[in-house]
Formats: sequence, structure tokens, C-alpha cells
Amino acid sequence: MSENAIGIFDSGLGGLTAVKELVRVLPQENIIYFGDTARVPYGNRSRNTIIKYARQDAYFLLSRGVKMIIAACGTVSSVAVGLKDELPVPFTGVVNPTAAAAVKATRNGRIGVIGTSATVNSNSYKNEILRANRDITVFQQDCPLFVSLVENSFISPEDDIVRLVVERYLQHLKAEGIDTLILGCTHFPIIAQAIRNYLGEGVTLIDSGRETALYAANLLQEQRLLNTSSQTGCCRYYVSDTVEDFRRVAEIFLDHSVGNEVSHINLEHANI
Ligand code: DGL
Repeated sequence: MSENAIGIFDSGLGGLTAVKELVRVLPQENIIYFGDTARVPYGNRSRNTIIKYARQDAYFLLSRGVKMIIAACGTVSSVAVGLKDELPVPFTGVVNPTAAAAVKATRNGRIGVIGTSATVNSNSYKNEILRANRDITVFQQDCPLFVSLVENSFISPEDDIVRLVVERYLQHLKAEGIDTLILGCTHFPIIAQAIRNYLGEGVTLIDSGRETALYAANLLQEQRLLNTSSQTGCCRYYVSDTVEDFRRVAEIFLDHSVGNEVSHINLEHANI
């Protein structure tokens, strides 16, 4: 069992921020990634649709024999909260680990949360932060255009469009004097430099993909599921839209080529 892969999914490419971190901390693990690139974005869809997609994604990974599932998607983690209880393997979303890291990081008790509209409307991060500490003030902002920027490779901090959208979305959080900002969507770390340039070095950015990967590594250890092989693991990628587009943009997320390790899969008619 311990040599089975870790399953990670996201609506698109954002979950690769978790893959990158997981490979760094657990290089011996095998990983199977599913990116639902044909149906991204999830963040402005209805609750029922998000739950349906999340179940199809998770059951696809289960059919590949994974030993753990990570929903590396803020939207799924915020909305499909019942998924954890129906899966036969350990599961984590991004909300709990990320909120815990933000609570630990803040010094002035003013935390900003940015995510998709579904994530922000669910109040998932806010509720989790307040559960840990009621004295913290949370300021939220949905940033749906960030997902489109990233999926379309508008990521340079020097790009005028990126700078303008960052400023438009974050000016109210900046004015509120937050000292910690949760990047509550796994796409957002890709434009972290543009966000940092606008908010200044005094604001700590919490990367949901990274925090979740660290949490998952601990969970695997606790459950005695770590792969103890001395060999480097391999990563296999599945996407629901074209392989070529994924290959091109994945390289930006991962800093290396995914080569021929990508296949197309259609979950549209999955009977789940
Ligand atoms: N990566 C997804 C998340 O973390 C967002 C993209 C989407 O809207 O599908 O919320």
C-alpha cells in the first residue's frame, strides 16, 4: 500500500503548486495528478455542480489505486465538505492546513483571505480562523479573474494587466492593514510576486498548495503510509482537456517539463 501513489486533483493547473511542494518534501512518493482542465473554473459554479465534479475527480483517482487524496483546490475544499467522509482513503483539502498557518503567522490579528467566489461565499477559511482564535479579524475578497490570468499565462509581475487586476482586487485589503494574506486558491501562488509587489514585504503570503502538501506529508507519516523506497517517485498527470496546453503551462508551475507523463481522460460521463 505505501508504494501506491498519492492522488491530487484540482479544477485545472492550480493544484500543481501542491505537487511541486510534495515532490520537494517527499521525493520518493509516486503522484497521480488530475486537472479538470475542460471544466475549469469551478469557482463560479453552483454548489451541486462543484460537489458532482469533485466526486468524479476523487473517484477517478481512487480507480487508479491511490493511498491518499488531496483536493488541491480551495473551491472543492470549501464546498464539497462531505467528500472526506465518503472516501475509503485518508483525505485532505486545503482550508484547514492553510487557515492554521495563517493564524500562526499573524502578528496584528488582521488576516486577508482571497479565493474564488464560491470559496469566499462559503466563509470556509474565515470560519476556520475564527474557530482557532475569535479575536482575529478576517477580510475577504473574491478574485475570479486571477484564475483566468493564470490559466492563460498572464503571470508576469511586470505585466500591466496583472498589476491592474491585483490592485483592483486587493486595494481594500491593503487599506485594512492586514499583515497576513491567505492565497486561498491554489492558482494564486503563481502570481504571488505581483501580489507581494503591491502589498509590500510586511504582508506574509500563505500559499494553500504549500501548506497542504506539508500537512499531507504529516498525515501520511501518522498513518504509516509513507513510501520508504529509496528510489525517486514518479508523477503521472491526467487532464480532461488537451494534453498540449497542459504540458505548456504545467512547466511554468513546476519549473520542469512533464514530458510524456500526461494523458487525456474524459470524466464527463463518469457514472458517479
Ligand atoms: N484552483 C481552484 C481553487 O483553488 C480555483 C480555480 C477554479 O475556479 O476552478 O479554488
